[in-house]
Amino acid sequence: MKINVIDRDGTLHELDATPGWKVMEVIREAGLDIKAECGGCCVCSTCHVYVDDAWVDRLPGRQDEEDEVLDDACELKETSRLSCQLLMAEELDGLTVTLAPEWA
Ligand code: FES
Repeated sequence: MKINVIDRDGTLHELDATPGWKVMEVIREAGLDIKAECGGCCVCSTCHVYVDDAWVDRLPGRQDEEDEVLDDACELKETSRLSCQLLMAEELDGLTVTLAPEWA
C-alpha cells in the first residue's frame, strides 16, 4: 500500500503505508518535514495537508473537531485535511496529498 506525498519543494515522494497508521505517521516516519506537534491529538494543525482533488470525495468527512482545528490553520483550502485524522486503509491505497505551508 502506498501514498504519494508532495513536499513543500514540489518533490513527489511515494511512501509505503501500513493499514491502521495515520497518514501523518506515515509522512513523519519517512522523515518528511511535518511537525505534527500534538502527536496526532487533533489540536495543533501542524499536520495540515491538501488532499488531491481526485481523492477528496473518497475520504471520510471531517469531524467537528477537525473542522475547528483547521479553522486556525494557515492557508486553508476546500481540500484541507489534518493528516492525523486520516487512517490508512486499503481503499486509500494511492492517496495523494501535498504538505501545506508552515506558519511563517
Ligand atoms: S498532529 Fe496535531 S492536529 Fe494533527
